Amino acid sequence: MRGVPDLFTFLRAARDNPLATWTEEHFRAPVVMGKGVLGRVMVLSDPEGIRHVLVDNAANYRKDALTRRVLGSGIGDGLFTAEGQIWRQLRRTLAPLFSARRVDAFGADMAGAAETVARRLARREGRRVDVAVEATRLTLDVLERTIFTTGLQRDPDALGRAITLFFEGIGPIDPLDVFGLPDALPRIGRLRARPAIAFFEAVVDELVRDRRALLARHGAAEGAAFAGAGAPGLGGAVPSDLLTLLLTARDPETGEALDDASVRANIATFIAAGHETTANALTWSLYLIAQDEAVRARLEAEVDAAAGDAPLSPEHLPALPYTRAVVEEAMRLYPPAPFMSREAIAEDRVLGFRLRPGTIVMIAPYIVHRHALLWDDPAAFDPERFLPPRREAIDRYAYLPFGAGPRVCIGARFALHEAMIALAAIVRRVRLDLVPGHAVEPVQRVTLRPREGMKMRVHLRRPLGG
Ligand code: HEM
Repeated sequence: MRGVPDLFTFLRAARDNPLATWTEEHFRAPVVMGKGVLGRVMVLSDPEGIRHVLVDNAANYRKDALTRRVLGSGIGDGLFTAEGQIWRQLRRTLAPLFSARRVDAFGADMAGAAETVARRLARREGRRVDVAVEATRLTLDVLERTIFTTGLQRDPDALGRAITLFFEGIGPIDPLDVFGLPDALPRIGRLRARPAIAFFEAVVDELVRDRRALLARHGAAEGAAFAGAGAPGLGGAVPSDLLTLLLTARDPETGEALDDASVRANIATFIAAGHETTANALTWSLYLIAQDEAVRARLEAEVDAAAGDAPLSPEHLPALPYTRAVVEEAMRLYPPAPFMSREAIAEDRVLGFRLRPGTIVMIAPYIVHRHALLWDDPAAFDPERFLPPRREAIDRYAYLPFGAGPRVCIGARFALHEAMIALAAIVRRVRLDLVPGHAVEPVQRVTLRPREGMKMRVHLRRPLGG
């Protein structure tokens, strides 16, 4: 059996590091067919084939059982795991929450959180920090600020605590999920996570109740003020954060609102899909620039010229094309979501291969982005690939950190802006160098993270007064 791991290797790798199961062949061949514990598997790295599965014939593919089990938020179906008519309705309803205008309006929250982390790093001048931990703090802070502008009155830290506990609890892959055993069988990880899930639900429920009451007081319960993409806010009386947007969102076709369970599941989904991924994009960017003096100097020069003595703000984004290229190149080499998988519903042909119903198609950005047939010098860190004129030569389906087609990441703009603002704010204040001897090994959990964190030493570039 070539290409696809056997049962023992797969189970060991699923627990340890699935990246280790990719072979040389995956990085050289457009397609690798095989049979694994999940049934027949096609590892697909050809842009035409990828477009066929994710876009042209997307209706014939659903997220496979493993994805649904592992990524199911633990509290019902959010946008990431929903399928069919329920997914279509959710996507229609939630799309306006992530419109360019909305995301741009969140820029100030992103900049606030980024400046907080940059200052915290500056205060640790000369010391060692784990950048992966700092980056995760930052992305959770951004989500807290953008989802719930106002926390709990009685216990302001409860929300952060609930989120951390919840995601620690549901994190690891459970072997029962790999075998596809029925949901009714208790998973050890999930059992341990139960109190954390209950706490998270209780905190979110309280926030939802308070916000519904506030909306009702301001006559916005019917969603008139927020429905649709272009509606104005509520004049400052009610925060126009994602919570308000979720509670007032309406399906543009049926006018239906989300019920409380769906609001909760989608809050968990945004946090699950949005925090570790974006933190990894930032962590790998900081790691890569620390390995390349010339890139780092050019990045610092761009940030200094754009922001000068002012703290970073979203208005600086258009003046940061190289910063964007650094983040995009970091996500090429270390895609925060390293693989996607689908299951064929009916028979299909992909690049001449016949796929029977039930065949799993794996599309792994980690492989596609380092593929010998698609990239010159694939292992080299070269942000200029993402600047004109070279940028135009990149095939849409050879670079897919956010996926493609109808299920493309709804938070892509949000994530890219956040990573750019955070990288610029940090680079403006400090320079970070890898601690000598710290081993950096990418490990695939649900996201692609450094196994032992990212230990770096802080050098001050701009004193805290500036
Ligand atoms: C660098 C950061 C991020 C990366 C690399 C990333 C990557 C992805 C990818 C590859 C998919 C498609 C999965 C598939 O087709 O199987 C996806 C879907 C999704 N992402 Fe992201 N994501 C990021 C940040 C975010 C953020 C910040 C949010 C929300 C706040 C978010 C919310 C979602 C949701 C809800 C989906 C499911 C969309 C659907 O199925 O309709 N993501 N993401």
